[in-house]
Amino acid sequence: MRVRVLHGPNLNLLGKRDPEVYGSHTLEQINTEIEALAKELGLEVRISQHNSEGDLIEAIHECADWAEAIVINPAAFTHYSIAVCDAIKAVRLPTVEVHLSNIHAREEFRHKSVTAPVCIGQIAGFGASSYLLGLRAAKDVIQKRWR
Ligand code: DQA
Repeated sequence: MRVRVLHGPNLNLLGKRDPEVYGSHTLEQINTEIEALAKELGLEVRISQHNSEGDLIEAIHECADWAEAIVINPAAFTHYSIAVCDAIKAVRLPTVEVHLSNIHAREEFRHKSVTAPVCIGQIAGFGASSYLLGLRAAKDVIQKRWR
């Protein structure tokens, strides 16, 4: 079972960026946890982070050739990128949207996700564990072949 994990813009700054909101884990630490859990769950994972919208869209397109599911934190693109939403829809892979913070408990502009409607579901507010829960959800979805 192959899962692609995609991190959106500014997530390379985790650890230094608003630790009271996003926690103190660096992206590298989160990726190590994702890889460890993937091994335990018998999943192959490929992980990448993209600061630009175009690069993130290219990475979503690439998923069509390899992945059986996607776990994505679109970061700020969540709230306005119709292009990222269209890319997720176009690859027709079960996708789990994850957020470190509870976007629904933050500023009003973060309450709206334009990407969630094309995802299987959303996991938000569990810090780095959101990715781990997302990985478990992705495995579940692959096994049940949800689309
Ligand atoms: C985020 C929430 C977004 O609103 C924000 O723009 C991010 C990170 C999260 O993981 O909590 O960059 O996606």
